Amino acid sequence: RTRLHTIAAAAAVSGERRSKANIDWESLGFGLKDVAGTMYVAEWTPEKGWDQGKLVPYGPITVMPSAQVLNYGQAIFEGMKAQESAQGRVVVFRPDQNAARFKAGAARMSMPAVPEDQFVEAVKATVAANLDYVPPIGKGSLYLRPLLLGTGPILGLGPAPSYTFTIFAAAVGAYFKGGQLTPIDLIVEERFHRAAPGGMGGTKAAGNYSPVLVTQLEAKKNGFADVVYLDAKTDTYLEEVSSCNIFVVKGRTIKTPPLGGTILPGVTRRSIVELARSRGYDVHEEPVSVHETMEADEVFTTGTAVVVSSVGSITYRGTRKQYTEPGQAGKVALEMYAALTDIQTERAEDKFGWVVPV
Ligand code: COI
Repeated sequence: RTRLHTIAAAAAVSGERRSKANIDWESLGFGLKDVAGTMYVAEWTPEKGWDQGKLVPYGPITVMPSAQVLNYGQAIFEGMKAQESAQGRVVVFRPDQNAARFKAGAARMSMPAVPEDQFVEAVKATVAANLDYVPPIGKGSLYLRPLLLGTGPILGLGPAPSYTFTIFAAAVGAYFKGGQLTPIDLIVEERFHRAAPGGMGGTKAAGNYSPVLVTQLEAKKNGFADVVYLDAKTDTYLEEVSSCNIFVVKGRTIKTPPLGGTILPGVTRRSIVELARSRGYDVHEEPVSVHETMEADEVFTTGTAVVVSSVGSITYRGTRKQYTEPGQAGKVALEMYAALTDIQTERAEDKFGWVVPV
């Protein structure tokens, strides 16, 4: 345990799980309304490398207009959740996976990697310092947003001379507007691609998440929750949704697009692959054509923020394929949602060793 974590844990224990009077646990959405009071900040310089970081009140990070991240976008992020568990403790889900992805992302973006043990300790310390923002079991979670930013100034194109690693957090509920178990309607995007071979689609770079807004906003205007992207080479195979991975079900077979550099290697994606296999499904990470998808029994999406979200319909070239009864989540999506969240909240035995107490 680092000194930082010990301090945070002690503070948290002495504060118990005092509930914040101003948080309405019954109506949590996915936003910053209930942003946590404490954040973690560490700095990297070439002389000293990463400092051990500190916990400070949630507030602005001051950077120059010449900060690399503001000019050239050196930024990656993670999404993680801490939850109250049925064992009466607060746990995080597979933080080692986020630490590893953060490290890989730093390499792709020419940034200094945060050591994986420092990443995990910083996550635990941030949760421990904000225990009063962890919703009661079943009401939501404390969403954690680690960021690695090229905050040092630069003019010519190059890596930043210094970096900031920060984690802020917020109490959140369901990601999509209709609530966790309401199926979402998707439309296949045919003008834009999310990623290209050799690009950075497989990196959780901030820059991957704004080019999708133009399509997402238009889809929303037309009554869809989000869009599904197709591969840039052939316009035939599913890639992912703007904010989550996608799974297609036919009978007992479940397919999800393979990781090949264009698909975000989701921690929830990986967990659902493993969990579905353990429940007897035949799971394949292989290309799934849009045509096959339009013939499927069921479709669902996965992500840290969305968890498992049933897809009610997909619209492709004017044809709408309806998978579920209106308002009724698909069977496999429901099964996987329950199986995953039972582990995440320790209602079920964690056979995989995924859950880590704070
Ligand atoms: C997450 O699922 O945690 C993400 O980072 C996706 C983001 C677009 C909300």
